Amino acid sequence: MKFFIDTANLEHIREAQDLGILDGVTTNPSLMAKEGIFGKDQVLRHYKAICDIVDGDVSAEVIATDLAGMIREGEELAELDEKIVVKIPMIKDGIKALKYFSDRGIKTNCTLVFSAGQALLAAKAGATYVSPFVGRLDDISFDGIELIEQIRLIYDNYEFDTQILAASVRHSMHIIKCAEAGSDVMTGPLSAILALLKHPLTDSGLATFLADHAKGTQK
Ligand code: E4P
Repeated sequence: MKFFIDTANLEHIREAQDLGILDGVTTNPSLMAKEGIFGKDQVLRHYKAICDIVDGDVSAEVIATDLAGMIREGEELAELDEKIVVKIPMIKDGIKALKYFSDRGIKTNCTLVFSAGQALLAAKAGATYVSPFVGRLDDISFDGIELIEQIRLIYDNYEFDTQILAASVRHSMHIIKCAEAGSDVMTGPLSAILALLKHPLTDSGLATFLADHAKGTQK
């Protein structure tokens, strides 16, 4: 399973990249706003800065909600860097935009997906990635992981190439469950990725090993 980090924070992106396990980055307008990144020029510069840090795909979201606007913005984003994946919302014109970019070999990520039907449409339109929002479904008492399982089944039934990018991942158990469900990618915050490292038996075991080693060096 590929690991993407879901942030526009350059420090977090650098830290995940330095770990050596990062496959890409996803952002959205809210994450950009959280970092104080506003206005077209600043946003484009920030995407470029992210691309300069990471090796993998970087999802950059269009703001327009009409086909012409999404095409205009998406083409501008795609020209920034070959790592850019144009992120398009799951709306009617979004489906048309996915098809437009897919026909031209430009990578896309269909965002704000909350149902199997939406995921099926995104795959039919040739999306590179589909982003079901696991955490936001859990927030409203729907099972986000169950949606990943459902999409996996449908995509496998018809051998769709679209990759399932489990989004809105909030904690390390989400990551494990996404891996069990066969998600191709997960995107989550640095805290969820780092939490995978943690186990109390690792900490206590290491402390014992070091203490026992120190006894030998004292002789
Ligand atoms: C997807 O790409 C979104 O950026 C993201 O995962 C949304 O997560 P949230 O529900 O934690 O805001």
